[in-house]
Amino acid sequence: MAIKWTPNLAIGIKKIDDQHKVLFERINDLIEACNQGKGKDTVAELITFLKDYVVFHFRDEQQIMLDYKYPEYEAHKKLHDGFVDSLKELNKELEEKGPGLALVLKTNRLVVDWLINHISKVDTQLAAYIKKDGS
Ligand SMILES: [Fe+2]
Repeated sequence: MAIKWTPNLAIGIKKIDDQHKVLFERINDLIEACNQGKGKDTVAELITFLKDYVVFHFRDEQQIMLDYKYPEYEAHKKLHDGFVDSLKELNKELEEKGPGLALVLKTNRLVVDWLINHISKVDTQLAAYIKKDGS
């Protein structure tokens, strides 16, 4: 089942929201490929894409936190670092064993969980802070 970016997930900063939308699109590509029985073909592409994209996305998000002097910066950055580490592990598995069904499932679970939980619970706290700050 596809997962959707919805306006309640908006941070209110276009660059970040656009990047989040790209992440949703890419995981939907994997979900769609899985539905067509082609998950293994797509998972390598997705992991390769994410390991670079996520690093620059997090860098942008963290720069905004610094710009706004966000008090939860360290805790939020730690979550980002944890996600990057999880992706590195998936990439290692991809390099060592090649794409398999287990890797497809793990990647799917990690990214869907991240998009649903991190954006809706952690990034939206940042959004609330930015809105309150008003600048
Ligand atoms: Fe974040």
